[in-house]
Amino acid sequence: MINSMTQPILEDYTLSPEQVPLVPSLVLPQAERQQLKEQIKAQLKALDAVLVAHYYVDGDIQELAEETGGCVADSLEMARFGRDHSAQTLIVSGVRFMGETAKILSPEKQVFMPTLQAECSLDLGCPPDAFADFIKQHEDRTVVVYANTSARVKALADWVVTSSCALEIVSALDRAGEKILWAPDQHLGRYIQNQTQSDMLLWSGACVVHEEFKTQALEDMRRVYPDAGILVHPESPAGVIDLADAVGSTSAIIKAAGELPNKEFIVATDRGIFHKLRQLNPDKVFIEAPTAGDGATCRSCAHCPWMAMNELQCLNRVLGDASYRAENAIHIDPAIAERARLPLDRMLEFSA
Ligand code: 13P
Ligand code: SF4
Repeated sequence: MINSMTQPILEDYTLSPEQVPLVPSLVLPQAERQQLKEQIKAQLKALDAVLVAHYYVDGDIQELAEETGGCVADSLEMARFGRDHSAQTLIVSGVRFMGETAKILSPEKQVFMPTLQAECSLDLGCPPDAFADFIKQHEDRTVVVYANTSARVKALADWVVTSSCALEIVSALDRAGEKILWAPDQHLGRYIQNQTQSDMLLWSGACVVHEEFKTQALEDMRRVYPDAGILVHPESPAGVIDLADAVGSTSAIIKAAGELPNKEFIVATDRGIFHKLRQLNPDKVFIEAPTAGDGATCRSCAHCPWMAMNELQCLNRVLGDASYRAENAIHIDPAIAERARLPLDRMLEFSA
């Protein structure tokens, strides 16, 4: 296993507060939301488009996806669903890397997003040129990148993983004797390193949402709710992961909430997931893990500002306004897309 002597000192690739946008705060009246939903349904039909949404986006958008034959899923299943669906137009409601993944896997389809401004701090914290330099310094290593990266970074990788399949893929590589270069999320990387004892060099990126969960405050909260199960996404800091009853991707968290006997849960991930958790478990209580406490800045407060940009109005506009749609279409250089497809195909085949 790697030790701190062999982990190179990297520049800090976490984002500064100025790089994190504010969560939009406009809440539309219910009647207006209902009207927008009806328009969106009609427009999806008219365009013969399918809506592929992540568990973190607006609950109304999640419902629209399910009611119109689309899907709500984690990032791995979004990729698979978009690739396998017969529709030639995909509307991806999530963050930009999810739209890019859909386009890489289906270059013949048109892929649009409610707004291309929906970035991800992990993607932003892994600039392709700097990452290419890092790879050059460690050419003996297998390059494994998290799906939360740009197409250019994926095009530099041997494997892409999501939190649904990262442990299994890294374990298999470790068994095959491979040393790994991992990017961009340091917390997920460290978690996998601890679980598998693999030889991994870690990039220094972090998720601005999960990094905010606080260990001490979570311990305090556990004393207030002693019977609550603790569910944690592995982009969270190690101290928070150590307190978990279940650690995993968004879909693993949803599964654990259904299977564990607890009636209450403290959940350390984006609060968008509460929509599905409550829908599937109406008799259970879900509580947000704390982002307050020592060192708190509350830049995100358990809600991804980029996921929150997926507002009903933007979704309505991308469907109904052709010029806005053109502005929010995913385009990827075909040579980069072709190269980025290799590690994505490997991931999908491995986890089929
Ligand atoms: P999942 O792959 O678990 O859905 O996570 C995506 C993500 O961006 C978590 O912050
Ligand atoms: Fe990226 Fe974190 Fe937002 Fe997920 S929650 S999309 S990792 S910034």
